[in-house]
Amino acid sequence: MSTRPSILVARKIFPDVVARLREHFDVETNEGDAPMSPAQLIERLQGKAGAITTGSERVDAALIAACPQLKVVANIAVGYNNFDLPAITAAGVLASNTPDVLTETTADFGFALLLATARRLTESEHFLRAGQWNRWALDMFAGTEVNGSTLGILGMGRIGQAIARRGAHGFNMKVIYHNRSRLDAATEAECKARYVDKAELLKTADHLILVLPYSASSHHAIGAAELAQMKPTATLVNVARGGIVDDAALASALREKRIAAAGLDVFEGEPSVHPGLLEASNVVLTPHIASATITTRKAMANLAADNVIAYLTQGKMVTPLNPQVADQR
Ligand code: DGY
Repeated sequence: MSTRPSILVARKIFPDVVARLREHFDVETNEGDAPMSPAQLIERLQGKAGAITTGSERVDAALIAACPQLKVVANIAVGYNNFDLPAITAAGVLASNTPDVLTETTADFGFALLLATARRLTESEHFLRAGQWNRWALDMFAGTEVNGSTLGILGMGRIGQAIARRGAHGFNMKVIYHNRSRLDAATEAECKARYVDKAELLKTADHLILVLPYSASSHHAIGAAELAQMKPTATLVNVARGGIVDDAALASALREKRIAAAGLDVFEGEPSVHPGLLEASNVVLTPHIASATITTRKAMANLAADNVIAYLTQGKMVTPLNPQVADQR
C-alpha cells in the first residue's frame, strides 16, 4: 500500500499539472468533469489529505466534519465564497486561493465586457447574423460613449485597480471608486481614481463595474434601490460574483430601460440565468469566463498545485487564506 498522501482534484484540470501532483501524491481526478454533489464530494474525499477545488465545490462545516483526514483545500479561483473559511480554519485545515495570477486577464475581460455593453456589440452582431441588416442608418446601434466618460468601480482590490488603470490611462476616463477602505494616496494617484461614497458612485458613473468579493454583506449590493439611483444612460458590468446583483431587479430595470444596458459574466444561481436577463436585448451575457485564457487558467491551476505540494511536503503555503493554521502546526 502506498504511503504517499492521497489527494482529489475535483474538476478536470491540465494534464501537466496533474503530472506535477503525481510526483508527490496519489492523485484521484475527475476526468468526466461533472460537478459533484456535496455527498459525492464527501465520498470522493474519504482518506484524502488534500483537495483541489473550483468555485463549483462547496467546502463547508458538514464536509470538513465528514472528511477528518483532510489537511488542505486549494481553490482554483481568487474568490472563495464556496469556502466556509471559519469552519475550515476551526478544523485546522489550511485553505488557499489563486490571487495575482489572474488580475490583468480579469481586468482585460472586465473592460471587454464594458466596451461590448456600451457599444452594443453582441446585440448588433445578432441583428447582422439574423439577416436583418438591409440598410445603414445614422443612429443604428448607437451606444454610449466610453472614452472620456466616468467609470465607477465598486470594490477596489487588485482587479478593480487594474481596471481603473485601463480606464484612466487607456481611455481617458474619470475614475471614481467605492471600497470598504480607501486606497493610499500613491495608489489612488497611480490609478487616477477618486474615492466617493456609494450614493455618489451610483449617481455619477456612466459605467459602473462591480469587482467586489461576495459575502453576506455584499449580497444584493446592487438591487432595485441602487439601480434606481443610476443614470438612465448608465451601463452596469458584473465580473465579481453572482448574488452581488439582484438579477430579478436588474432584469426589470433593463426591460423598463431604467438603465441603458448591462454586461454580466456571473449570475445568481449560475449556471442558471434569470429568464428576464435571457430575454433582454440590452444585456451582454458570458458564462463566468473573465479569467479564461489558457495562460491564466494554467497559472491558476499551477498555483493551487503549488499550494498543496508546499503544504503537504514542507508545511508551507504560497497563498494561504488562513496562515494561522500553518503557523500552529
Ligand atoms: C475567480 O477566480 O474567482 C473566478 O471567478 C473564477 O472562479
